Amino acid sequence: MIELYLDTADVAQTKRFNQCLPLQGITTNPTILAKSKQGLNETLKEMQDALGGKPRFHAQVVSTSIEGMVEEARQINELPYDMVVKIPATETGLAAIKLTKAQGIKVLATAIYSAQQGFLAALCGADYLAPYVNRIDALNGNGVEVVADLQLLLDQNQLPAKILAASFKNTQQAMEVMKLGIEAITLPVDVAAAMFAHPAVEPAVAQFGHDWKQAFGDKLSFES
Ligand code: G3P
Repeated sequence: MIELYLDTADVAQTKRFNQCLPLQGITTNPTILAKSKQGLNETLKEMQDALGGKPRFHAQVVSTSIEGMVEEARQINELPYDMVVKIPATETGLAAIKLTKAQGIKVLATAIYSAQQGFLAALCGADYLAPYVNRIDALNGNGVEVVADLQLLLDQNQLPAKILAASFKNTQQAMEVMKLGIEAITLPVDVAAAMFAHPAVEPAVAQFGHDWKQAFGDKLSFES
């Protein structure tokens, strides 16, 4: 089954969606945490309380050198949660991914804008690959095509890396990549809400209520 994440540091929204969706956990990035004005430690603690059980958290390094990323990855991995360390798939990041994987730490290669970039990260041992679907589209690329090509390369080479598609502005983008059979996806809260917000749904449900009341008043179904 696909792993479903929310791409957010918003604890209230996480509580809301955890009630109605089978969330695997949360993905964050430095921009998301900066906007929330709450650091990683406090955010993870509150998210753990909000989600309960054993959620998986994806948290990104902010170091810019190979050694710095590797050490930061080690520290993130020591946090008392199921952590996946996000490392940008740059030249420096790929080197850090190789070294971090050699320590047995779970890694997500992030900021992926092309299939070949994601493929290299998978060859370096990344467990997850995060192609940025909407950002690719916004650059006149084709985010869905990049995900399809990347999945093809993973399959052809029998690489175990999972695509965790990220960066969505609408449900259509999310649907298109899910149809490709990807193994994980992270949605911003507005797109997650839009997934079940077809404008015809509420009127249909209201009509059921209206028709029932006309015929049976306040009786419940099993009382009729
Ligand atoms: O977590 C990184 C990725 O989801 C970026 O999303 O919306 O900033 O393009 P966005």
